[in-house]
Amino acid sequence: MTRKQEASVGAADPGNKSVKIFDTTLRDGEQAPGFSMSGGQKLKMAKALEALRVDVIEAGFAAASPGDFEAIQTIAREIKDSTVCSLARCNDSDIRASGEAISSAASGRIHTFIATSPLHREFKLKMSKDEIIRRAVAGVELARSYTDDVEFSCEDAIRTERDYLKTVVEAAIRAGATTINIPDTVGYTTPEEIQNLFEFLTREIDGADSIILSAHCHDDLGLAVANSLAAIRGGARQVECAMNGIGERAGNCATEEVVMALRTRADFFGLDTRIKTEGFYGASKLLATLTGNPVPRNKAIVGKNAFAHESGIHQHGVLANRETYEIMKPEHVGVSTDNLVLGKHSGRAALKNRAGKLGFELSDNQLQSVFVAFKELADAKKEVFDSDIEALILGEAVGASGPWTIKSLYVSAGSDENRQPKATVRLSHEDGREAEHVSIASGPMNAVFHAISQITDTPMTLEHFAVSSVSGGEDAMAEATVRVSTAFESYHGRGASTDTVLAGAKAYLDVINRMQRRAVRGQSISAQH
Ligand code: KIV
Ligand code: ZN
Repeated sequence: MTRKQEASVGAADPGNKSVKIFDTTLRDGEQAPGFSMSGGQKLKMAKALEALRVDVIEAGFAAASPGDFEAIQTIAREIKDSTVCSLARCNDSDIRASGEAISSAASGRIHTFIATSPLHREFKLKMSKDEIIRRAVAGVELARSYTDDVEFSCEDAIRTERDYLKTVVEAAIRAGATTINIPDTVGYTTPEEIQNLFEFLTREIDGADSIILSAHCHDDLGLAVANSLAAIRGGARQVECAMNGIGERAGNCATEEVVMALRTRADFFGLDTRIKTEGFYGASKLLATLTGNPVPRNKAIVGKNAFAHESGIHQHGVLANRETYEIMKPEHVGVSTDNLVLGKHSGRAALKNRAGKLGFELSDNQLQSVFVAFKELADAKKEVFDSDIEALILGEAVGASGPWTIKSLYVSAGSDENRQPKATVRLSHEDGREAEHVSIASGPMNAVFHAISQITDTPMTLEHFAVSSVSGGEDAMAEATVRVSTAFESYHGRGASTDTVLAGAKAYLDVINRMQRRAVRGQSISAQH
């Protein structure tokens, strides 16, 4: 069956046992404070999502900024195995921007939306019910002039009167929408309620059998995954979700959680997705690195502890039979359990193979740069473990995200009372500038951070700094994480190196680069308005 034919199998078709995964990491996820990505970073994440085989990648909101438009356009050009989608409000300029941004996609979708609930109608839109329907119909019709694949969403659908919701949805279907999305915009619903709503829509809507019904749940009450699964039980055949559950406020339904629930409890749901779940761990780590937001240890599916068994009783059970305490196999989500060692004699093929087992599909160019870093690391340390390789790949992923890079760094520290810790840091900027600063402070890391702040002219408050070893042994790689705050936002940064101080410096500079990239993007957004 081709992708186009798949789209014409409607929600009400009892034979439709497949749930489409619409991933909005790069739109709803990326628009949340502290999760912004550059165009290049979005493309890297889009490739990871394509490798996961998500059905639809919502790549952004084309009308939001020229940067967003360009990122969607590039993703649309490069991605072949997932539909690439752009969000648009129901107005001409948004829809035209989306249509142009996806025009070169092998398979492109426009997702247009308007709010329908009484609160939004009265206080946000100040529009009558009829006016909203007219806008919805015009928006869907215009979107259909760009692509046959048009999704329509009733924002705040959960708090919309059922009879009105039915009327809007039927009008959008008549206008040509092929997917109808019912968002729980404010994360307010419960599993029983949303299942009942989807059953109602599947049963009562004229034309339900010709479209796909979709759920889009936010996690304000911690129910996004449960509500999405309940919507599926009620007839939804697309779920909108984001890796690591990122998104507005408390986030969206987590892609890895909803997919693994369907896979692990196939006996209960009787439904499937086309996702290559082995890529989850790598995609989750990549996102955490690109956005600088670490995954909590206890996060379902992709957290560090998700497959760790610490207590004696659990370890005993797992050694006797893994199924005593494991409902999923770690390798099914890309968590490696064998931790093979590579060394300086290992070749490119072995590295590529290992990266694949860790959930990273490397292109030839990526393999080349990771291989160079791997050889340097293998010279510096005897054995290279899976966690080292993962840190190298992720380091490459953030490596090209300047504008600033470290040219050189020297520190002196010790217990001599007459000599204070001192750091000499030299940075280069992508515009060609180079600058050096010498700082003296109460500790070597303080001195490094101070020198970097001085060169980049970025004063900020350091809230948290931590270094941990990526793997075992005296020559282990160090991974540093930094959290800083400004008056408006807090930012995370990450850096890895066999040198602890250098890892810390990279993490600190990672934060500054994120802030400066965001500032440039902000300027281009305000220049538009
Ligand atoms: O939460 C929401 O309602 C949305 C829509 C734009 C689909 O993100
Ligand atoms: Zn949303």
